[in-house]
Amino acid sequence: MEARGAAERGDVRMCQTVFPAHADHRGELSAGQLLKWMDATACLAAEKHAGVSCVTASVDDIQFEEAARVGQIITIKSKVNRAFKTSMEVGIKVTVQDVLTNVEKTVSVAYATYVAKPVGRGKIELEPVKLLSTEDHLEHSLAIERRRIRLGYEQLFQNLMQESNKEDTFEEEHGVSTDLTHVQSIELVQPPHANHHGNTFGGQIMAWMETVASISASCLCHSYPVLKSVNMFKFWGPSVVGDHLVFNAIVNNTFQNSVDVGVRVEAYNCEEWIKNQPRHINSAFLIFNAVNDSGELLTLPRIKPTTQDGMRRYLGAIARRRIQLIRKCILSAKVDKPSDLWEKSNQIKIWTHEEGAMLSLKVEMQVKIPSHLAFSLLSDFTLRLQWDKHFLTCKVLQAVNEDDKIYYVTSPPMTGHKPRDFVVLVSQRQPFKPSEPYIVAVKSVTLTSMPPSSDYQRSEILCAGFQIYSDSDSSCTVCYFNQVTSGVMTYFAANLTGLSKSIEDTALECMKFLEMNNSKLKLKTDF
Ligand code: COA
Ligand code: ADP
Repeated sequence: MEARGAAERGDVRMCQTVFPAHADHRGELSAGQLLKWMDATACLAAEKHAGVSCVTASVDDIQFEEAARVGQIITIKSKVNRAFKTSMEVGIKVTVQDVLTNVEKTVSVAYATYVAKPVGRGKIELEPVKLLSTEDHLEHSLAIERRRIRLGYEQLFQNLMQESNKEDTFEEEHGVSTDLTHVQSIELVQPPHANHHGNTFGGQIMAWMETVASISASCLCHSYPVLKSVNMFKFWGPSVVGDHLVFNAIVNNTFQNSVDVGVRVEAYNCEEWIKNQPRHINSAFLIFNAVNDSGELLTLPRIKPTTQDGMRRYLGAIARRRIQLIRKCILSAKVDKPSDLWEKSNQIKIWTHEEGAMLSLKVEMQVKIPSHLAFSLLSDFTLRLQWDKHFLTCKVLQAVNEDDKIYYVTSPPMTGHKPRDFVVLVSQRQPFKPSEPYIVAVKSVTLTSMPPSSDYQRSEILCAGFQIYSDSDSSCTVCYFNQVTSGVMTYFAANLTGLSKSIEDTALECMKFLEMNNSKLKLKTDF
């Protein structure tokens, strides 16, 4: 294997004015066009580093935060975050700028993997990327975590599917059939769709997929679908000029305001066409929102799968949504806003925030219980055994005063085989004013009377706890916080299935515990 690499590290930038030809019927930049520009810019960044032709191997989840309108300026910046052996991760940032106001907004941040593929030669090994800024270093270290998730995605998906096969019972009696959302379309790959070696651009394929998926979504929504995200996908094999590409799309599932549409692409050359021997080159899953004429989000009907394949794809969409949410929790550097609503319950929201080596997680739950009762139930940590499966045992070691207690907690193992133990100080605080929350704060402390033992892995809680806000006399919002260090993030990345289930299950169990105790107390007072 010969060694090649860029002499200079360099970003690649593309600027485009959004013209009517790039826009849809609402005057907004079409997602397909944007995907083409993103892939072209990222591919050029990869080739600048590799010094040879590169192909798109896969693209991680892409979220679209802002729409761009005709007349606005799109800027796409790409840079190679990390070179592995023959592949590279390329970061892509898209912003939109309004010419009149000069206001600039982020449209999307995405990560794609390109593989160096010199024509007519064997594989080449890439040079490492030169890291110049703090941001370069951060992206470089996050890139290895993203790669772990990317390459483990299929296995993780299969694990979640196996779990859902075991536990899911289908209850959508009144859902609508998706039969009418099936769309098939064909394209002939022509020279403008391909690079100078005749390989179809990944972005061109994504753009065609988006068109077909959007038609499929509109058959269900009966309104204009807006692309919100594209699920992580992989280019299984190349297609070339002269190939016929057949696209099949159908709605797989709907969530409250979004619809998951899957597209499968098969390629045929003339010989394969006659023999009906297609090459499966790509499958992707696109998530759309539906909006009415005034741009308001529409609530979508639930669907009812009618075939075995339909059922499998229905569950697949739920599994992908879980992975997407958890990926966001783990990797979204510097994100400080709500992630999507959890699909199983619209009473739970999750936020993440990363600062330095620290990742903070916030889970918010709407609970039907007065805030003072939620406070007394959550501040007694011994009661946590009833709802949090991460607590094996819990006992009070010392009551410092009425509001501060030290507990000894044991937990199931996280890595290795040893169970974990914690010595934590739990402090409870009442609000001074009605607008302030009740607070239960938790952090690890050292107690000479409880030194680490060889049977347990002594673990640390940096800062965790609850904030409880009163919403009405009978309901409140419970926010759970936890801060983890980057060391733990690696564990999370390797154990996504466990973590995704764990956040959801723990929050649901917590809500159940609070509401059940509220009903019990009500029954007692009614008597
Ligand atoms: N996501 C990210 N990287 C991937 C990947 C995926 N889904 N699949 C493979 N890779 C990486 C591997 O990790 C490896 O990286 P490394 O050398 O840095 O460790 C590299 O790609 C090569 O993997 P390998 O298993 O040796 O190669 P392969 O024979 O599976 O080929 C592709 C991988 C991407 C080159 C091949 O599938 C392909 O040609 N796909 C079509 C690409 C294309 O034409 N795209 C444009 C649209 S058609
Ligand atoms: P899976 O069926 O496991 O999801 P595929 O790669 O076969 O994986 O298909 C990807 C997606 O493409 C499917 O989830 C479905 O939404 C869509 N699709 C596949 N085949 C068809 C088809 N024959 N007709 C309509 N849509 C299809």
